[in-house]
Amino acid sequence: MKKLIVIFVAISIIAACKASKKTALDNTDQKALSCPDKELTFNNDIKQIFEKNCTKCHNKNERAGYNFHKVEFVKKAAKSGKLLGAIKHMKEYEPMPRYAPFLKRAAKLDQEYISKIECWIKSGMKE
Ligand code: HEC
Repeated sequence: MKKLIVIFVAISIIAACKASKKTALDNTDQKALSCPDKELTFNNDIKQIFEKNCTKCHNKNERAGYNFHKVEFVKKAAKSGKLLGAIKHMKEYEPMPRYAPFLKRAAKLDQEYISKIECWIKSGMKE
């Protein structure tokens, strides 16, 4: 009988661990995007992220066809899905940003910035 209880407890613990692991993973996988209440605009909220991280390359020379000093190019990249694909390092997109001069993959943008850009896109890309 004692043995049975031990086995039962062991199984319960294993099951509990598995269950908690699963919810933790689910949370990171499907973490809801939480956007600020205030309206995000390109000029107030987004532009500086691009100026700091992207326009070294994507400027008037239009690397990959983008000059990210200008909102129309940011919108174009966003509409094609390539912008989020690139900054989220999703499969089948070129991971961005890179660093000069060898164009190696640089660290991902801070999650705060990625979310901000995603929220701006979802709220209609106001200028
Ligand atoms: C050091 C230079 C450099 C920096 C900085 C850089 N990029 Fe790029 N980017 C490139 C190059 C070069 C390409 C062309 C793709 C290739 O040939 O690797 C490119 C391509 C892209 C593409 C097209 C991807 C595709 O799948 O077609 C997007 C979108 C993009 N960049 C966005 C960004 C964003 C957003 C940033 C800033 C967060 C950024 N890039 C920073 C050099 C850079």
